[in-house]
Amino acid sequence: MKEIAVVGTGYVGLVTAAGFADLGNRVIALDVDKAKIEGLNKGQMPIYEPGLEEMVARNVAAERLIFITSYPEALKNAEFVFIAVGTPEGVDGEADLKYVRSAAISIAKAMVAPLIVINKSTVPVGTGDWVADIISSEQEKPIPFSVVSCPEFLREGSALLDFMNPSRTVLGSTDLDAAEKVAQLHLPLRAPIMITNLRTAEMIKYASNAFLATRISFINEIANICEELGADVKEVASGMGYDPRIGPHFLDAGLGYGGSCFPKDVKALAHMAAEKGRHPQLLQAVMDINLDRRRLLLERAENLLGSLDGKTIGLLGLTFKPNTDDIREAPALDLARQLVEKGIKIRAYDPEGMSRAKQALPEIEMAENAYELARGCDALLVCTDWNEFKHLDLVRIRDAMRCPVIVDGRNIYDPAQMAQVGFHYRGVGRGYGPDGEPENSSLKGD
Ligand SMILES: NC(=O)c1ccc[n+]([C@@H]2O[C@H](COP(=O)([O-])OP(=O)(O)OC[C@H]3O[C@@H](n4cnc5c(N)ncnc54)[C@H](O)[C@@H]3O)[C@@H](O)[C@H]2O)c1
Repeated sequence: MKEIAVVGTGYVGLVTAAGFADLGNRVIALDVDKAKIEGLNKGQMPIYEPGLEEMVARNVAAERLIFITSYPEALKNAEFVFIAVGTPEGVDGEADLKYVRSAAISIAKAMVAPLIVINKSTVPVGTGDWVADIISSEQEKPIPFSVVSCPEFLREGSALLDFMNPSRTVLGSTDLDAAEKVAQLHLPLRAPIMITNLRTAEMIKYASNAFLATRISFINEIANICEELGADVKEVASGMGYDPRIGPHFLDAGLGYGGSCFPKDVKALAHMAAEKGRHPQLLQAVMDINLDRRRLLLERAENLLGSLDGKTIGLLGLTFKPNTDDIREAPALDLARQLVEKGIKIRAYDPEGMSRAKQALPEIEMAENAYELARGCDALLVCTDWNEFKHLDLVRIRDAMRCPVIVDGRNIYDPAQMAQVGFHYRGVGRGYGPDGEPENSSLKGD
């Protein structure tokens, strides 16, 4: 059993805190957001993540997990402190490190004994050294400490599963002894552990996210070509995925990537490259292709309806991916904003993302479920591939709509079945005729 403090109780911090407590450690999770900590102390989760509430409750009851706002209290007995604060996008695309700086200063002022500071936030290469400098200069009296980079690879929506079954643990430090102590903490997870230097560990995180984003933009480029040539990108991706050199993951063509990580991390990596005089052409193309997806979906709806003026558009899904309530950089929100700007009426339904989306864009009218959403809509745009959308009663949806038009930004439906039910349906890259248009695609002249 180790004494661990976790700074930041967002998606990463809360999962890290609950996960290490579940492994039998004593964990103090700290946040500067008083309301969040008060809620957590009442058993209210600030985020939706499958299994999180139960895991938190179990470990709070066993007195292995507590939530506080005081740094001195959190660090009193801690041997390890994880930094898991946000690193949002700055004005020029760089990562904004103000929360990391503030956490490092608070740690420096509150620490009373030797400490291993572990950085889990995604931070630009070189930040580990910068954090070490801040702590040294802000300490009131010198107390030994080490900084270890331990980038986080969990996926929202399966964060606890990923915590307990990581693909790997990457650790970077100039202090091998500290890195090995952090490795010991991770041993029960039985994943490969790689120890390298600080900057390389930081770079592994950016390179991994940029590569996954690149796969998504790659398959979207292929989808565009499939549409022109009459091939089906879903089948193309399956056929490619059997090749062990390629693998099946992150080859889903559609509306592109979003969320709190890929957009900002690809941008931040491109920014780091540009700052050093490099021209990150591939990363730029990845970002451009991704933004284009949103335009493409709107154009597709417009083509099917003739014009969007005076129409009501329904968004099936608001979160950037299923099984989360996170709407940060969600393509659906961007689409909704663009439609609202054009004066088009927007309705939406999402199993978990509606309250956050309503705060971000009050103009969206929320529906209680997908059938309620369909009522009076001229077109539905599928923006998130929640499982429940895959199993809707399509006849009921068709009958509720003013026009049976579906633009499927996640390719969750079968074009042949949709045509059979009587929808004017378009997915993305799905083997249309040689002219790139499906037979029943246009309502113009209906
Ligand atoms: N969300 C993900 O899926 C994911 C995955 C891998 C890595 N990451 C990275 O992990 C980091 C955290 O991401 P997140 O999604 O958990 O962020 P988040 O915004 O959900 O949570 C950050 C938390 O830190 C708190 N905080 C800010 N400043 C603080 C301070 N000085 N002291 C204490 N608490 C403070 C905030 O109040 C907030 O609760 C980011 O760098 C992100 O890029 C995120």
